[in-house]
Amino acid sequence: MTFKTLGQFIIEKQADFPYAKGELSRLLRDIGIAAKIINREVNKAGLADLLGEYGAQNIQGEAQKKLDVYADEQFIEALSRGCECCYIASEEHENGIDLSKLNTANRGKYLVCIDPLDGSSNIDLNVSVGTIFSIYRRKDSDVPIRPEEVLQCGIEQVAAGYVIYGSSTMLVYTTGKGVNGFTLDPSIGEFCLSHPDMTIPETGRTYSVNEGNYLKFPQYIKQYIKYCQQEDERTSRPYTSRYIGSMVADIHRTLVIGGVFLYPETSNYPEGKLRLLYECNPMAFIIEQAGGRAVTGVNRILELKPQHLHQRIPIVIGSRTMVDKVCEFYIQESDQTSSEVSGYTFSG
Ligand code: AHG
Ligand code: MN
Ligand code: MN
Repeated sequence: MTFKTLGQFIIEKQADFPYAKGELSRLLRDIGIAAKIINREVNKAGLADLLGEYGAQNIQGEAQKKLDVYADEQFIEALSRGCECCYIASEEHENGIDLSKLNTANRGKYLVCIDPLDGSSNIDLNVSVGTIFSIYRRKDSDVPIRPEEVLQCGIEQVAAGYVIYGSSTMLVYTTGKGVNGFTLDPSIGEFCLSHPDMTIPETGRTYSVNEGNYLKFPQYIKQYIKYCQQEDERTSRPYTSRYIGSMVADIHRTLVIGGVFLYPETSNYPEGKLRLLYECNPMAFIIEQAGGRAVTGVNRILELKPQHLHQRIPIVIGSRTMVDKVCEFYIQESDQTSSEVSGYTFSG
């Protein structure tokens, strides 16, 4: 059985983009190329001296892993050479990178926000890690790039996706017309369409949260976790708890079998831990396109106006009815009527 490759699929879908004369297609191709190179190193990290700490910290004050830095370099290289992207906001750099300064031939019309390697803490444990990316189009490409151009609302994304380097390596992305998953066939070095038109189940039986933070959670999250653990055959509770600690792996499972992933605000992360631009917005775009929901607690993530590159937010994302349930607890706690809560209307 022959599979459609990512390249063939992108060209086939190119007609969906009246204004794009192939640029977005080439940009997605460039991301795929970097992902294949990173996959090769992830698969042999232990043999390629790519495990362990890099010996520096990133802007977040987090110790960088060698693979964090390697992955970051690969995406910058591929996007700079591909000339479709003119600016990168990466988790690994305090400020965005103007690629036209690295390559004067670069007249790219797109901006990319990227988490080059997500789940770094799991690299040395041989647990799935990933890459998360978000793509915006410049509003006016005739003027020099300004850093604030990348601070666009999530609803402005033209594409978003992730790569999961797991038991198989998959690229899952959306351009706003559904979600499609591609599995890397190492024998031909191509991502092949393996999961067309991915949709998230309306409900699920899995909740995913770091329960080690339980005592630091807001009351509505504690109540929701207790709700998940209570017996109730009608709503198939108690649910199962699954938490991998790599957002890409936890969200991929949630997309495939349903469920809800939560990283709420805690006392040590009062704004939440996950970053809006290159973790929450791309995942929210993908999950909404698959029929799910993504909120900060009750406000729709894709409508948030980013304030700065590394802004953190709380996130509740997954199957529609399960996210609705978390929001019910939020509204009960904040004693707001749903009409006061912007951006969120409960599913019927
Ligand atoms: P990154 O490796 O890019 O810094 O992201 C790690 C994130 C995310 O992948 C995961 O969901 C979360 O950190 C896990 O955080 P805790 O270990 O605090 O649960
Ligand atoms: Mn991450
Ligand atoms: Mn990362």
